[in-house]
Amino acid sequence: MNSSLRHSSLIAGCMNWGHWGARFDTSQYLSMINDCIQEGVTTFDHADIYGHYTTEEEFGRALKEAPSLRDKMQLITKCGIRMVSPNRPEHQIKSYDTSAGHISTSVERSLKNLHTDHLDLLLIHRPDPLMDPNEIAETVDGLKQSGKILHFGVSNFTPAQVQLINHHIPVEYHQFEFSVRHTQPFIDGTLDLCLREGIQAQAWSPLGGGKLTAEAEEEQSRKIVAAAEILGHKYGAEFDQILLSWLLQHPARITPVLGTTRIERIRKAVQATSVKLTREEWFMLLRAATGKDVA
Ligand SMILES: NC(=O)c1ccc[n+]([C@@H]2O[C@H](COP(=O)([O-])OP(=O)(O)OC[C@H]3O[C@@H](n4cnc5c(N)ncnc54)[C@H](OP(=O)(O)O)[C@@H]3O)[C@@H](O)[C@H]2O)c1
Repeated sequence: MNSSLRHSSLIAGCMNWGHWGARFDTSQYLSMINDCIQEGVTTFDHADIYGHYTTEEEFGRALKEAPSLRDKMQLITKCGIRMVSPNRPEHQIKSYDTSAGHISTSVERSLKNLHTDHLDLLLIHRPDPLMDPNEIAETVDGLKQSGKILHFGVSNFTPAQVQLINHHIPVEYHQFEFSVRHTQPFIDGTLDLCLREGIQAQAWSPLGGGKLTAEAEEEQSRKIVAAAEILGHKYGAEFDQILLSWLLQHPARITPVLGTTRIERIRKAVQATSVKLTREEWFMLLRAATGKDVA
């Protein structure tokens, strides 16, 4: 790995902590942050847009109340999406913007919202068809030199797009959707590239964004959960722990970005890091997802 960011082996995703989900108040943010840190989950994943541009600020309010927490955590945020929102009346349609001006303004806003003087990791949220790799590289380089961001990465990029940016400035992290339900990154070269270039992979929606649950509705998800429950009996674990251990077992040492808003589920996820499936068990889960044996 070409990066020195020491993030935790599980990341707490904050997308649903605010207006898009649990609607935590400041004291709930504080107790969730404290409890996560207590469990060793010290890295928190944001994006400027979460909660319609409000979640970073709410999280930052908690940091303002308890500033000593900042040194105990790593903050990730993303920029590059211009979302239509009552909080951004100037946005007429949803679009992407990876211009120097947008990236810099977005970073300044995130620093202010999160009540911090640096971001541990900045990710470009989505590949922008109009992105100019030189402009991105120069901007990111400037932000790094000023100490406003410590590390840089991308999210949801194709392998060719990662290579393009990596040619101009090191891509240290790639965050993409990955779970037993979404195995495209095996097939499209995303994970191969991470392994080859030493890019640290982060998986969003590691539990299918809430689709891989005991109440799963889709047939594929039900089959995956049923297979995970069977393996869970052997390991004294619950299905969600088995599904996380499946992901953790990949040699790319993928870091799951957990979407839960409940500390008990974070605790369970931490325990999942000690479950080690056999190769056959790993393939059983893959078969449950694809409905067939490998060729
Ligand atoms: N880079 C990107 O483009 C991108 C896109 C999407 C998300 N993300 C990041 O990834 C994070 C995770 O995404 P996600 O929310 O889709 O992840 P997820 O962990 O796959 O799904 C979490 C959702 O599943 C629910 N859930 C139900 N049963 C659960 C169980 N047994 N264990 C855990 N969760 C269970 C959670 O509800 P409870 O809260 O009630 O537990 C929550 O609503 C986000 O917070 C965000 O930081 C990044």
